Amino acid sequence: MKIKNISVYLTEEQVEKRIRELGAEISAVYGEEPVCLICILKGSAFFTCELAKRITSPVELEFMSVSSYGAGTSSSGVVRIVNDLGTSIEGKNVIVIEDIIDSGRTLNYLLENLKTRNPKSLRLCTLLDKPDRRVVRVDVDYVGFEIPDKFVVGYGLDYDQRYRNLPYIGFVEIEE
Ligand code: IMP
Ligand code: MG
Repeated sequence: MKIKNISVYLTEEQVEKRIRELGAEISAVYGEEPVCLICILKGSAFFTCELAKRITSPVELEFMSVSSYGAGTSSSGVVRIVNDLGTSIEGKNVIVIEDIIDSGRTLNYLLENLKTRNPKSLRLCTLLDKPDRRVVRVDVDYVGFEIPDKFVVGYGLDYDQRYRNLPYIGFVEIEE
């Protein structure tokens, strides 16, 4: 499969405006309480950095990478932690930062796993949500944008590891 065209769906300005709003919303909730952001690599790296800059509460940044095995553009439900957190989250206010929630399998697995580590609170923030694709229920606390069931790239999201560095979010047209 080859990419035929990428059309801009959300401009850099739109994305960054929404991230500022999310940052303000999160800051209002946590106030002076520290919050630990868990960036799910690699997809949410760009989003996490921008969001962290817009949160005024004390922020701790942690990183984790997971792989959900699956062919092409969908995840299989078999999730593996490739790089775990380097620190304990016990007693902390945790927000998991994700790029996109699609079937919900990755996050469902991950949240169950993180819950067993006894954080003080555990919330989920995603830049994009494709609610029409949900297979497994996931409670999302903060959503940047709800999007239709189309494959997107940019702002951290990839197609076969490419296009993560596009400053906007685009729809992909694939040449069969
Ligand atoms: P889920 O387990 O099906 O919710 O899959 C979530 C993961 O699939 C995301 O973290 C992305 O890595 C990937 N993904 C799902 N939809 C897209 C998309 O439209 N573009 C790029 N990656 C996607
Ligand atoms: Mg991916």
